[in-house]
Amino acid sequence: MSAVLVVHGGAWSIPDEMAPASVSGVKAAARHGSSVLKSGGSALDAVEAAVRALEDNPTFNAGYGATLNIDGEVELDAIIMDGRTLASGAVSCVKNIANPVSLARAVMEKTSHIMLTGKGANQFAESIGINAIPTDKLVTEYEKKEWEKHKKYFAGVMEEFNTKWAHDTVGAVAVDCAGNVACATSTGGIRNKMVGRVGDSPVIGCGGYANNSSGAVSCTGHGESILKVTLARLILSHVEQGKSVADASRLSLQYMGDRVQGAGGTIVVSPSGQWAATFTTERMAWAAAADGVLWFEYFHTLSCLLSNTYLSPVLIKHIL
Ligand code: GLY
Repeated sequence: MSAVLVVHGGAWSIPDEMAPASVSGVKAAARHGSSVLKSGGSALDAVEAAVRALEDNPTFNAGYGATLNIDGEVELDAIIMDGRTLASGAVSCVKNIANPVSLARAVMEKTSHIMLTGKGANQFAESIGINAIPTDKLVTEYEKKEWEKHKKYFAGVMEEFNTKWAHDTVGAVAVDCAGNVACATSTGGIRNKMVGRVGDSPVIGCGGYANNSSGAVSCTGHGESILKVTLARLILSHVEQGKSVADASRLSLQYMGDRVQGAGGTIVVSPSGQWAATFTTERMAWAAAADGVLWFEYFHTLSCLLSNTYLSPVLIKHIL
């Protein structure tokens, strides 16, 4: 079978001025992850590589470019999961780490635990030679300005994730040629969150899940809502009951909207290579590399009758 990799750069109301960088960022990450699969890497290697590329890109809320908490600090969450064995690793509330997804993978591979948090996660990073970096290296001028502008925490339900205030999360899912699936998710969380707040992203079954018997999911959106409905597992439970990955994603996001008024997005891949990218926010940047084709959504500039300019999504495919 042929390998598939899908990435997202967060479900939220991406402002027009950030749309081109968001689209090119997810395309570059999908190409990068896909090249790992092509050169014989596993699904796990590919999702880690794709998420590292997104963490390094200041356009996205993860790694460099993460949002700031109420004290103006960066606290990062990430998860990675291997569908072959259900092994998983996560970090939460970690500071001064450039690529939390790789630290999460180290938790999975080098400890007998699933999640390390705060000081303990940083101590572990130091013990295995992952260097701490100064906070300044993670904070963009854009985020400093947004944080100054919005010194207030929003509940972050449907309305807020459809404003330009929210700024959310990155993720990747993949299936490799052997039919193994994996997922990874990484985030700075919600701007102005309380110190110590942990969202859905590092929590197994919520921000991500991977199981070779059903598929792999990475979620984005309002963390507290995703946690309440255990969104990643909910999607895979629909798949296990015979739904396609697209229908399972739509049903689960709709349930989250109806039941807890939460908005968000998901990417899913099945062991047979079916994939879907679905969202209930205004926009979500995503790209999928499948069968030698790169799929992505472009926010195309149109002029409407009232001569306001707006961007509407157009599905595009390119040769990889
Ligand atoms: N979805 C990311 C968060 O709420 O932290």
